[in-house]
Amino acid sequence: MVKPIPIPFQDRTVRESTKAPAMNSEQFCENGRKMVEYISTYLEKIRERRVVHNVAPGYMQQLIPAEAPQEPEDFAEVFKDIDKIIMPGVTHWHSPRFHGYFAAGNSYPSILGDMLSDAIGCIGFSWASSPACTELEVITTDWLGSMLALPEEFLHRSTGRGGGVIQVGHGREPINTYPQLDEMEIMAKLVGYTSDQSNSSVGRSGLLGAVRMRKLNTDSKFSLRGEALKVAIEEDKSKGLIPFFLCATLGTTGTCAFDNLEELGPICKEEDMWLHIDAAYAGSAFVCPEFRHFMKGVEHADTFSINPHKWMLVNFDLSVMWIKDSSLLVDAFNVDPIYLRHENAGKGAPDYRHWQIPLGRRFRSLKLWFMLRSYGVTGVQAYIRKHVHLAKEFEQMLLNDTRFEVVGDVIMGLVCFRLKGSNSRTERLLQEILQDGRIYLIPAIVHNIYTLRLAICAERTNLDDIAFSFSVIRSCSDRVTKEFQATDGTRQAVTQQTRNVGLD
Ligand SMILES: Cc1ncc(COP(=O)(O)O)c(C=O)c1O
Repeated sequence: MVKPIPIPFQDRTVRESTKAPAMNSEQFCENGRKMVEYISTYLEKIRERRVVHNVAPGYMQQLIPAEAPQEPEDFAEVFKDIDKIIMPGVTHWHSPRFHGYFAAGNSYPSILGDMLSDAIGCIGFSWASSPACTELEVITTDWLGSMLALPEEFLHRSTGRGGGVIQVGHGREPINTYPQLDEMEIMAKLVGYTSDQSNSSVGRSGLLGAVRMRKLNTDSKFSLRGEALKVAIEEDKSKGLIPFFLCATLGTTGTCAFDNLEELGPICKEEDMWLHIDAAYAGSAFVCPEFRHFMKGVEHADTFSINPHKWMLVNFDLSVMWIKDSSLLVDAFNVDPIYLRHENAGKGAPDYRHWQIPLGRRFRSLKLWFMLRSYGVTGVQAYIRKHVHLAKEFEQMLLNDTRFEVVGDVIMGLVCFRLKGSNSRTERLLQEILQDGRIYLIPAIVHNIYTLRLAICAERTNLDDIAFSFSVIRSCSDRVTKEFQATDGTRQAVTQQTRNVGLD
């Protein structure tokens, strides 16, 4: 006979274990206060830290055991390890000396919003799963859309078909919302377009949607124009392909260039193509009326998205996409197993699971709501205008030094620049800057021009910080210029010698 396997739960010692929770509420409050103080000190004194980490791959393996602890540890011990183990490997994105990528949103109200979201911990896939989660998202995305002066059709409160939805990130949705995607022979012929300056996530969305995505050439301002789109559409139609989608960018990743929506929009309408606008970074600036001329033609779009987690004081991750006709999304994603149904479905509030690819969703709108109420529209406008002003100041510093040239127009909080001459000079300059470690920049290659990007990222950045960053760039440039003068000299001498011996 087979012996029954003992079930641990029937063992009294297991069942009646009196082990206290790892952290009780008093300890949570005490540790929480310490953590909030730590965070505030970290952010207020962040200038004192070297912006670039100083560690090599695998550094942490030397500091942390290979297995999780068998027995509980005191949280005070865990706390000590933040400075010892974590901080040395952190790149300080919120340092005023961090100028890489684009700004990453951050603000105290937003941090508090995420804390509350974590505590509530609901998974808001339907209205019924936690009504506040859905309803706050509907209201805050309408607030935000209205702040950016988006056409009313994009708002929940207008026709009932449009509205905003908070996503983790950008770029994939419009491809999957095309109503005919399930027909394989159509799919094989679909072709989407974007510019040669669009973010890599757009190309990736083509891969995920298993459709062709063509990158079109941009003009001398790195902007996609109507003519380039027209030519591509004609070419593709003559090959029997079906143009179905355009992703235009307002504020490209490389140089913050703007595609021409007034030219592109009518073409998309005429060709019955889906127009998505990726305004991930620069879209936040449309909260200021003086920048809205860059979105002229937005009325032609089917979907529009921005990342408040970039340039609107909200922590990663919070990307908002607005759609004029959400029924297309719902039709594409609607799966309705019995355990997700509820009696209030379809009665005035969306079930957001039909608006996205994953099922689960966090209570992200809390941080947006906290931030918007704490700053107000005027506070957000002041923040954007300050960054744009600082970018202009930095551009002026560059232009006062004849060794540099500015690439593209400085419109938002991004300045692209290079050392005049061959790309290799600017490549060397970046190596010097990163080795120095006091500031952080990344490069871009646009139309074969190697350029450095200086983005104004931190909320606290001021004119002194920009002057500091410029002084680091200048001293690194001094070294590179000398080095190139020396090699130019050697090269010239070698050329002269060769000429003298008649080998040239
Ligand atoms: C223009 C643009 N679109 C999309 C993205 C992707 O952003 P995320 O992955 O944070 O949504 C970026 C990132 O820099 C971007 O610059």
